Amino acid sequence: MADTKEVNEAQAQDEQQSQKTIKLIIKRQDDAESNPYEEEFEIPYKENLNVIACLMEIRRNPINSKGEKTTPVIWDMNCLEEVCGACSMVINGKSRQSCTAIIDQLEQPIKLEPMSTFPVIRDLQVDRSRMFDNLKRMKAWVPIDGTYDLGPGPRMPEKKRQTAYELSKCMTCGVCLEVCPNVTRDNDFIGAQAISQVRLFNLHPTGSMTKDERLNALMGVGGLQECGNSQNCVNACPKGIPLTTSIAALNRETSFHMFKSFFGSDHQVN
Ligand code: FES
Repeated sequence: MADTKEVNEAQAQDEQQSQKTIKLIIKRQDDAESNPYEEEFEIPYKENLNVIACLMEIRRNPINSKGEKTTPVIWDMNCLEEVCGACSMVINGKSRQSCTAIIDQLEQPIKLEPMSTFPVIRDLQVDRSRMFDNLKRMKAWVPIDGTYDLGPGPRMPEKKRQTAYELSKCMTCGVCLEVCPNVTRDNDFIGAQAISQVRLFNLHPTGSMTKDERLNALMGVGGLQECGNSQNCVNACPKGIPLTTSIAALNRETSFHMFKSFFGSDHQVN
């Protein structure tokens, strides 16, 4: 008798779940030039879905909540485990990665928008080239001679290595730029991400050989001086990178570098 009751309860639960839906409102844009518009979707509920799984379901069956056939929604993704940073978007008003945004933890209807700091390519897909260009400007790499095997590199003291490890978690996702009031579509401010990467590569024993070039780049147009110290970046970073500590450290380093350049051997007053 108890078994029948349990089976009935389970059946009722299954039925209830099969009737549940997930409602999404997606800000769409057909191409870089066209005007954005909103489109609503309602898809069947399943447990433990993330936002990307919902977008995949819409792509498989692109019918909006009015029952009209529409175009599949476009977005970027790659690793699906919050490592590559490609899937960043604004979910219910908060910029974050869609691969780790679990539906059961979100309020419905779930509103998806592209990040506003970057030019929209289509729908939720944005062009983050700005960030990669900034990394090139800041020489965010360790210069090595790749023509022959150099053997193991110099060892780093443990404390430095731990700091470098934290900084190396950056995935160029764009969230710190999206939340920064000083980064706009029309200005050149590089934002916390590139600043923190300068710190990372200047910490490296080999990378520090080109430290001055990075500091010079950091003091150029759109550099460190544009930071308004809002601290939004450090609160929003999905990897918990100590971005404001990096900014403070580089403020000190650039000031010292400036004095050194001014009074140093490069700029001797006759
Ligand atoms: S797909 Fe790589 S961070 Fe989400």
